[in-house]
Amino acid sequence: PADTYDETYRPQVHYSPPTQWMNDPNGMVYFEGEYHLFYQYYPDSNVWGPMHWGHAVSPDLLEWENLPIALYPDSLGWIFSGSAVVDHDNTSGLGTDDQPPLVAIFTYHNDPLEKAGRDDFQYQGIAYSTDRGRTWTKYAGNPVVPNEEPIRDFRDPKVIWDAEREQWLMVFAAQDHVMFWRSDNLIDWEHLSDFGKTYGAHGGVWECPDIFPLQVEGSDETKWVLLLSINPGGPNGGSATQYFVGDFDGTDFTLDPDFATEVSDSAAVWLDYGRDNYAGVTWSDVPKEDGRRIFIGWMSNWDYARDVPTTVWRSAMTVPRTLSLQQTAEGYRLFSNPIAELTQLRGAPEMFHGEPSLELTTASGAHELELVYALDESVTTPFGVALRNAEGDALEIGYDPERKAFYSDRRGAGANDFADSFAPDRTWAPRLSSSDTLRMHLIFDRASVELFADGGSTVVTEIFFPIESLDQLTAVGDNPVIEGTSYPLRSIWK
Ligand code: FRU
Repeated sequence: PADTYDETYRPQVHYSPPTQWMNDPNGMVYFEGEYHLFYQYYPDSNVWGPMHWGHAVSPDLLEWENLPIALYPDSLGWIFSGSAVVDHDNTSGLGTDDQPPLVAIFTYHNDPLEKAGRDDFQYQGIAYSTDRGRTWTKYAGNPVVPNEEPIRDFRDPKVIWDAEREQWLMVFAAQDHVMFWRSDNLIDWEHLSDFGKTYGAHGGVWECPDIFPLQVEGSDETKWVLLLSINPGGPNGGSATQYFVGDFDGTDFTLDPDFATEVSDSAAVWLDYGRDNYAGVTWSDVPKEDGRRIFIGWMSNWDYARDVPTTVWRSAMTVPRTLSLQQTAEGYRLFSNPIAELTQLRGAPEMFHGEPSLELTTASGAHELELVYALDESVTTPFGVALRNAEGDALEIGYDPERKAFYSDRRGAGANDFADSFAPDRTWAPRLSSSDTLRMHLIFDRASVELFADGGSTVVTEIFFPIESLDQLTAVGDNPVIEGTSYPLRSIWK
């Protein structure tokens, strides 16, 4: 069968679709004990095409059950990215008082207007479900946000409940900025404001925004965070996600003074410096007593997503991550860490120190590593770890004290000739922390690595395609590991 979830390169601790093409995560919402994950899906091919919303649910963000396709293209167009909310008070009237509806807010793309010669024409529509997301009905009055001018690249609505103003707030991307709209009922929308033309990185088109308030760790202060994916123009090429921290007053988003006050690729602040975390957004309606802001991204890059050497399915999501906001020497910064639930997948730890030299053989091929190093003036050359195989392939992850930057090097990690843009160079990620203890927390899953450095202040996510699995861990450079722990991870698909 096609969906054994055990093919070569098939992730064991990450969500991937059973078969065919997947891109962005969509409509992430928690409702009645289930985390919903929808995603950009083309069920007829392993490359991008007419978009649907695929669907999976999980009780714990670890194990996923695949459900039938939730949204199909219709006469108004293909179904592009968007979000979903629980309409608790049935403000839309699309449910009943006893059965609040789930409402999905998404972009309709092109067809049939394409026929009128308007390429990349997009507008926003909604659909609803009153059976826990199992079946969806498109709203008969779609679109709810038409695109009269029209503006090119008008897409990816994220809707949140703005509790302070008691309004629905929608943010979506409009080519080189985002637009904010408001509504009382998820159906009638009014344009509030625009943000971003003159801020941040603009090396590509703006896509997939998210906005949410987040409490600053260790204080009573709340700031608003705006995530914003851009393609191309990422710090290491192709697709990547920048973010902005500021305030939202119900109408306008205003940037905090330490964020770039002008258009600048180099001053932009990136959620993840790796090449493979794109279009990520956060879950809606996570219970208040949980209180986490939980993120998931698409673990690929438009530079080569269509060319990577898997055929049954194409691409996976990152592990779900908890985002937190901290006041640092550079200003407010987002920290990302794997959700705590992931520790449930761990087998018996193996501790080590000195020069690591381990066999990482597990049934799943997925491992987690925690590495602690000391930094002082004597450490001037790069150090870290390599994952190798007997064929001489190696994936390197390390830190260069001179550049004050982490790196990932997949140039020798297996297949890479499927796209020139895949492995031209190392990936670099500036270190934010200035502590003289350096920590690298790594999750390896057959064909991906996620680095959460220094408590999640620098993050690097990258995919690679080893022809023989990489299961020997060796040292790079000569800075010994002070404290190392390796955990085998069990598969979420067994
Ligand atoms: C981002 C994106 C979105 C769009 C979707 C189409 O990867 O380009 O802007 O809605 O993919 O599949």
